[in-house]
Amino acid sequence: MRRRPARVLVLPLVLAAAIPALSMGSSAPVAADSVVIGGFPVEASQSPWTVALSSRDRFGGTRAGQFCGGVAVGRATVLTAAHCLDEDVLGGPPERVRDLKVIAGRTDLLSGRGGQEVRVSQAWVNPAYDGVSNAGDFGVLTLAEPLQGDPVIGMAADGDPAYAAGETATVYGWGDISGAGEYPDSLRAARVRVLPDALCEEAYPGGSDGTYDATSMLCAGEPEGGRDACQGDSGGPLVAQGRLIGLVSWGIGCGRAGNPGVYMRVSDIMRTLGWARASGDA
Ligand code: ARG
Repeated sequence: MRRRPARVLVLPLVLAAAIPALSMGSSAPVAADSVVIGGFPVEASQSPWTVALSSRDRFGGTRAGQFCGGVAVGRATVLTAAHCLDEDVLGGPPERVRDLKVIAGRTDLLSGRGGQEVRVSQAWVNPAYDGVSNAGDFGVLTLAEPLQGDPVIGMAADGDPAYAAGETATVYGWGDISGAGEYPDSLRAARVRVLPDALCEEAYPGGSDGTYDATSMLCAGEPEGGRDACQGDSGGPLVAQGRLIGLVSWGIGCGRAGNPGVYMRVSDIMRTLGWARASGDA
């Protein structure tokens, strides 16, 4: 049977509240001090392009139906992970999820206050996304109306120094903060470093969890573990030098030494879509 990693990676989020043991998935939780893992709270206004993907019908209303992250690259254009839009996650094709929305500008999902909720009018999933290797893990959401203000981040084009190994980057999301299914109500961020491709090639040479491919993926975290994205952060932004370089995609466990986070490389999204320029208009 063809393996569907999205089930393993995202279903735990769906069930975490009800069945905490399941949220550990196939990997052990990280130590409590190494946990957005190793992150800190941020206000949505500090990263206005970070959005939550939401369906209350599918994921319940407590945390506003949040199940993945996303990033606004145009006023009505949001990038997210392809695996977030998988049928296994949504229970059917995205267009069937009538209350699929993005929530922008809201720090605390529990409060229901602040920011804006905008319906997704069209969800395009990269047809080249491969759920076995995890290659090409991105999709493009078109919003029913443009986001108010201009909460858009520029994308780092191929060759941008922001991609260089050693560069400091920040990842944002409402995902698991411990690796044991602890979902925060409020947005968090974690400081990580862009790591040499060799580290991820070594960590992920081609197992059942995915295969690292340096042309379309980006390796980031801390060599010793600790700071990382985790379940529920998928599709959200990795930012360096003020520009978008990655989308949270996959990893083994969260924050574990020797298992860095793997991100969809934004320059490869631009190449695939023929978006030549680093600006957000699409
Ligand atoms: N696939 C996860 C999600 O759906 C994101 C996992 C990221 N893991 C990591 N160790 N960086 O939310």
